[in-house]
Amino acid sequence: MKKVQDYYFEKAKQEKYPARSVFKLEEAQNRFKLLKKGDVVLDLGCSPGSWSIYAAKQVGLTGRVVGVDLQTTKKYAFAGAAPMELLKADIFSEEIFTQLAALQFDVVLSDMAPSTTGHKFSDHLKSLELSRRALAIAAAVLAMGGNFYCKAFQGEDFPHFVDEVRQLFKTVKVVKPKSSRVESREVFVLARHFK
Ligand SMILES: C[S@@+](CC[C@H](N)C(=O)[O-])C[C@H]1O[C@@H](n2cnc3c(N)ncnc32)[C@H](O)[C@@H]1O
Repeated sequence: MKKVQDYYFEKAKQEKYPARSVFKLEEAQNRFKLLKKGDVVLDLGCSPGSWSIYAAKQVGLTGRVVGVDLQTTKKYAFAGAAPMELLKADIFSEEIFTQLAALQFDVVLSDMAPSTTGHKFSDHLKSLELSRRALAIAAAVLAMGGNFYCKAFQGEDFPHFVDEVRQLFKTVKVVKPKSSRVESREVFVLARHFK
């Protein structure tokens, strides 16, 4: 297993991404084409920046990427990529909610993860709080027909979260990318066509 993890770590380094997590988005993009040229993308939990960079390359110069994280995210510039605006904020703050709700997005991504305690149930609940906040933000900012791709940790309350997502989108799928560690309970909810 270690070999597979090292493979993604090395691949990220070679492709100049600051984190291996980029492949969890790349795989979804290759399979489901959730990002299109010209899309305006919101990336929640964007630090250290791999998903924002990847999204900026996919949507191109006519698109735009806004990222939010508790931590400062270093900006990188790539030829042909969309402009990126990377904000430092807690997504639970009302200020950031209001700021984002004034904009409209085609895609909302969330790779947010809480700092884990090792206690499965409380980590699961903390992660779902982040996923639910991401869903509330998506509901406030997405254009009709927009897409949502959100990390969540499986556990008792996870099916309820998926039901909540189903109420807002036409199609919903739970995916486990190959680059996601098998021993991790993380999965991604891919929701398309915001109603
Ligand atoms: C796995 S990392 C994201 C990696 C990123 N997708 C990339 O590819 O570079 C999870 C991020 O979620 C952020 N996060 C956790 N809670 C948050 C919150 N309340 N508000 C904003 N960001 C949060 C963390 O600071 C962390 O940087």
